[in-house]
Amino acid sequence: MSFERMHISSFFVLSSLLSLGVARTIAGSDDCLPAGRYTLCQNPWGEDAGVGSQSSTLVSTTTNTVSWSTNYTWANGPTSVKSYANVLSNPSKGVQLKNVASAPTVWNWDYTSQSGGLRADVAYDIWFGNATSGAPASSASRYEIMIWLSSLGGIQPIGRQITTATPIANQTWNLWKGTNKHWKVYSFVSAAGEINDFNADLNAFFKYLVKSQGIRSTQYIQAIQAGTEPFVGTASFVTKSYSVSIESK
Ligand SMILES: *[C@@H]1O[C@H](CO)[C@@H](O)[C@H](O)[C@H]1NC(C)=O
Ligand SMILES: *[C@@H]1O[C@H](CO)[C@@H](O)[C@H](O)[C@H]1NC(C)=O
Ligand SMILES: *[C@@H]1O[C@H](CO)[C@@H](O)[C@H](O)[C@H]1NC(C)=O
Repeated sequence: MSFERMHISSFFVLSSLLSLGVARTIAGSDDCLPAGRYTLCQNPWGEDAGVGSQSSTLVSTTTNTVSWSTNYTWANGPTSVKSYANVLSNPSKGVQLKNVASAPTVWNWDYTSQSGGLRADVAYDIWFGNATSGAPASSASRYEIMIWLSSLGGIQPIGRQITTATPIANQTWNLWKGTNKHWKVYSFVSAAGEINDFNADLNAFFKYLVKSQGIRSTQYIQAIQAGTEPFVGTASFVTKSYSVSIESK
């Protein structure tokens, strides 16, 4: 059998397994999995600050939605994030803020189990830069925009709080501003507790950042990620359904 045939047949087997709803799990530190229009990654960027383990599972995909989960247990370094198991939207990038007509997203998630004293966020991580493209947290990154739908155990974003209960996209948010390496970080933290069923237009956040925080509308969206950052604790986190897309003007 030629290499080409083997490649095609193993791809076929993988797609068939996914469409039959057979979940695939990754457990290696830096493992990623293609997930339809998304890429699911373990991203253990802060694991050196503690000890633990994590595995992430691709449950299913449809045309624009993905369902996935992650199980983890992390100890030590209670003020440090250990990882960011997340899905990155492959096509949602390369658009200037001024050219975004809308950026609809739906995120329906839950903890199916969680330890006492769990410290973790559930958040979008969105990256802007001067250039059309650039990897998250790279030399091309100029702004990191986080939207925290949950923060457990008294954790806080980087920097300091600059607004209270700011209304955006049908919810209220406490906005934090700080700097990480060479990029600025804006973190919108839900002011009214956990949002398990989020249905919004992310463009409302982008417009607010341009109008009220002085971010230039010529900045490019370089990446949109959605996932969870544990500090310490044990949990089973499930995203039942997630989607995001950018509609250009
Ligand atoms: C983006 O451009 C501004 C203004 O020229 C510059 O100060 C900044 O360093 C640039 N940042 C990146 C990440 O390219
Ligand atoms: C407000 O909620 C509606 C219904 O869930 C949603 O369609 C709309 O996009 C939301 N508005 C914004 C600006 O997010
Ligand atoms: C994740 O944990 C749940 C229990 O909370 C368990 O049912 C499931 O099998 C675990 N998944 C993996 C891949 O270990």
